[in-house]
Formats: sequence, C-alpha cells, structure tokens
Amino acid sequence: MNKSVVLIGTQWGDEGKGKIVDLLTLHASGVVRFQGGHNAGHTLVVEGKKTVLHLIPSGILHEEVTCMIGGGVVLSLPHLFAEINELEEAGVNVAGRVLVSEKCSLILPSHVELDLARERKLEEKKIGTTGRGIGPAYEDKVARRGLRVKDLLDETSFLAQLKINLDYHNFILEKYYGVSPVGLDESLDSTIGFKDKLLPMIDDISKELRERRSEGKATLFEGAQGSLLDIDQGTYPFVTSSNTNVGAISGGCGVGPKSLDYILGITKAYTTRVGEGPFPTEVDGLIAHHLSSRGKEFGSTTGRPRRCGWFDANALKEVAQLNSLTALCVTKLDVLDGLDQLFICTDYKESSNGEVKPIYEEMSGWKGSVAGVKSKSKLPPEAISYLKRIEELSGVEIDIISTGPDREDTIIENNPFY
Ligand code: IMP
Repeated sequence: MNKSVVLIGTQWGDEGKGKIVDLLTLHASGVVRFQGGHNAGHTLVVEGKKTVLHLIPSGILHEEVTCMIGGGVVLSLPHLFAEINELEEAGVNVAGRVLVSEKCSLILPSHVELDLARERKLEEKKIGTTGRGIGPAYEDKVARRGLRVKDLLDETSFLAQLKINLDYHNFILEKYYGVSPVGLDESLDSTIGFKDKLLPMIDDISKELRERRSEGKATLFEGAQGSLLDIDQGTYPFVTSSNTNVGAISGGCGVGPKSLDYILGITKAYTTRVGEGPFPTEVDGLIAHHLSSRGKEFGSTTGRPRRCGWFDANALKEVAQLNSLTALCVTKLDVLDGLDQLFICTDYKESSNGEVKPIYEEMSGWKGSVAGVKSKSKLPPEAISYLKRIEELSGVEIDIISTGPDREDTIIENNPFY
C-alpha cells in the first residue's frame, strides 16, 4: 500500500485537483497543503452540492480526516476563519480537524494592498495575480522579516516586528505607489485578533507527518496552483510566488523526498490559464467558447474568465520529468464532447519574431457523450485513442479519468493508495 500520495497540478492550476483530493481522501487519514495560500481555489461537488475551498485542504468534507496546513503556506487568518465558519454553517464538523504549522508565514492587510498597488502600476505588464497578498507575504518571508504563526505566542515581540514591517510597507504604499497606508489596528485585528482561536490548532506538522507515517497512516499531499506557475520552473515572471512542484513538499512541510510513495499529476483534457503570461496552445472563437462554457472556465478564486486552449503534451512531458510523476489523472474529458476534431501540441517551434508556436497533431473527436462514464470500456474508441496518445507523448500512464464534476463521475484504473 502507498502511504504517501502526492497530487500535483501539471498545468497553470485549475486542473480539477479539488475533486480528486476529495475522492482520494476516502483512503487517507490526513491531507496536507504545503505551499501557496488562499490564492488557490478548489471546487468540490458532492451529491450536487458545490463547495469552494481556498485554504483548507479539500479532505475536510470527510469527517474522520485531519487537514494540515504546512509551514510553506502563507496564511491569512481572517480568511482561514471565514472559511471555517462557512464550512460549519454548511454543517461540516471542523473543530479539532485542522492543524496549522507554527512555521506558516502570516499574510497582513498591507501585503494585500501592496499586491494590488503593484499590479495597478504595472498596467499592461501586470502578472494578473489573485490580489490576495501572496507575493508580498512570500517576499517578507524570504527577506527574513516576515511574521510567522509561532511569533503570535510572544505578543510584545510580535507587536515590535509588526510595527517595523508596517512602517516599511506603508512607506512603499505612500511614497512609491501614492496610495493610503494601512493602520496598525487593522493589522492587529487580522493577526493577534485570531490568536485565541488559532492556539489549539498550532502544531509541528513535520513531526506530526513523521509520526503518522510510522503508525502506517495514509497521507495525501495536496498541491495548489500548477507546475507551470512554479516560481523557478514555471513561465517566469508570470508565475506564483512559491514552488508548486513536488520538491516543495520537503521545504513546505518538512518531509523528506523518500517519504513520498506515489506522485499523481493532474491534467485537464485541454488547457486553461487564468492571469497573464505565455500560453502557446491558446485558442479563440468557437473552440474557446466551447471549452469555456462547457468547462465552466471561470476562476474559482477571482471569478475571472479562464483562457482556454488545446492539450499541450510538450509541456506535460517536461512537467512529468520535473515531478517524477508516477501516473496521470486526466480531468474534464466530457468537456471535449461534441468536438469533431481535437488537437494535441507535440512540440513548439519559434517563429521569426521569437514567438513560440505549437506544432499540433490532429485527432478525431467522438460522437455522443462521455459525461458520467464510470468504466474505461464504456468510452468511445476515439476517446481511448486520445488518452493513449497523451500517455505516449508524456511517457506517463493514466490511472484516473474524470468524466464529470461529481465524485461518482470517475474511472479509476489504479488506486494510488493500493
Ligand atoms: P498570485 O499567486 O496571486 O501571486 O498570482 C500569480 C499568478 O498565479 C496569476 O497568474 C494567478 O492567476 C495565478 N494563480 C494563483 N493561484 C492560482 C490557482 O489556484 N489557479 C490558477 N491560477 C492561479
């Protein structure tokens, strides 16, 4: 049995990880986030009911599962507790089930203002961030002035450092960006204001995970964003501010690479991207409309329309290597229903003006619908050929295929936990 299973998005995020984490959590006793923050957005549909999670691991809907937030995550306490409230109001029992690393860096209101002010100033050169302060919070962490969860334990030194950071942030906000400063009270409300509620949730996640492994408990590591948004290996500078690839698990929750048994790469059957930056297989017109409307391609964090395009096997091949993928999970296959022709990008070529152009292979679409199909043998031959080609081009086998938003709409060829 594989005790530690990792889920990594292989594109620019929004691959449908939430549904797969939720599904695989049936076999795990713990789920961990290791990077990013509430810029992520995981939409889960269970028995027709939709839940969108940004920060809390998608395993929360399973009563007996512990959800852990590793130290590599940047944490907005107002957002964490708003999400907990929302879940509780929906009848989910959250108490005692969320553990937060003492090492998480805190997102301050001034980080959000810096993020927004910077994007405004960049105008057409903007990154298209989610505007949630993720980048500035990671900047403070790397600059070694950031405030962490464990700093809340000593309020006097917390306050002193908060004042220093706020002075610095407000200097930039006022003098460089020409916008209003952020007040100390607001910053205290967003941090110390949640201390009492947070205290019982604080834990040493690295130790917790080691103990769980030695007790034979199965753990799921839930990646946020996607490989192509990785700060080092992604489409820089149009990336997020953390490492999103599998290597981030070691730093993000203090677990050695040999403790990971199976790495599942999640990919949509086509490609989307939200925010700015290169996207070689992007399409417009009728095909874009088909993918966008059938796939409901609107950002679950910002509501922005996602850009849509054909499947990029050239990018996936590279990502498979970067992450030592064990297998693939292809999601949203049903969105391709009704298209007569499909295109897969097998390589790139550079045009004379330096633009990267995709080289495509054409494949036949299928008649009828694959929506809700639960067994590979029930898929039309064209859909099987399409999936086979993805396997050949990426060099990785497909273990799971998702044919609809619900937990039940899934074909599991091999269960990662067995
Ligand atoms: P940031 O992470 O808010 O700084 O945004 C940086 C880039 O990452 C932008 O292009 C965002 O749209 C993108 N991004 C961040 N989180 C997600 C996500 O969960 N899904 C898709 N794109 C994301």
